[in-house]
Amino acid sequence: MGKVYLYEHPLIQHKMSILRDKNTPVKVFRELVKEISMLMTFEVTRDLPLEDVEIETPICRATFKRLKGADLGIVPVLRAGLGMVDGMLDMIPNAKVGHVGLYRDPVTKEPVEYYCKLPEDLDKRRMIIVDPMLATGGSSCAAIQLLKKKGAQNIALMCLIAAPEGMKAVQDEHPDVDIYIAALDEKLNEDSYIVPGLGDAGDRIFGTR
Ligand code: PRP
Ligand code: URA
Repeated sequence: MGKVYLYEHPLIQHKMSILRDKNTPVKVFRELVKEISMLMTFEVTRDLPLEDVEIETPICRATFKRLKGADLGIVPVLRAGLGMVDGMLDMIPNAKVGHVGLYRDPVTKEPVEYYCKLPEDLDKRRMIIVDPMLATGGSSCAAIQLLKKKGAQNIALMCLIAAPEGMKAVQDEHPDVDIYIAALDEKLNEDSYIVPGLGDAGDRIFGTR
């Protein structure tokens, strides 16, 4: 079973509360998604391999650590996942970025794929799929499946809010995938929206409703 990381850091919890507020304007909402994603990057990259490097400080030469090679890929699930990319790239500017386009059919709630462009060497990278919402889990499971089909072997999923239903779906279908979330909410409503959640993440990031 993949590990689950729930971020309880006060800075993240504070920012998440503002994010959930229906009166938070689109500009602030975008900034918060970026900031929270940047903070979450810290834990999701904890196991990145390091190598020794010789550095000359003003005092002497000594051996220190630096990141070993280019080992990461970030894959936002369009649209809402796009809001999480810039904060992560601020931390890891050399990461490659793939894109997976999926939307939930409004009636069936099943994910519909409309775009997929991924780094060629994704089999050698730790691929981090990012999407603010893990609701039924349909979109995340489909995104993971797509990456696996293209050869990815090391996949993590990073979301802001998860419902128990979505967590279970990913854990059942993809027990090898670690899940990073800033909040685990109560349930889904009859429309498969997360309760209490934050509403429609894509609409709130892009101001479309
Ligand atoms: C949202 C969200 C996830 C999906 C989660 O996207 O960004 O991708 O719903 O729901 P699920 O776990 O039940 O699949 P949406 O389908 O609204 O598309 P959008 O980002 O284009 O608005
Ligand atoms: N997608 C969203 O944007 N929000 C939800 O609560 C569920 C799915």
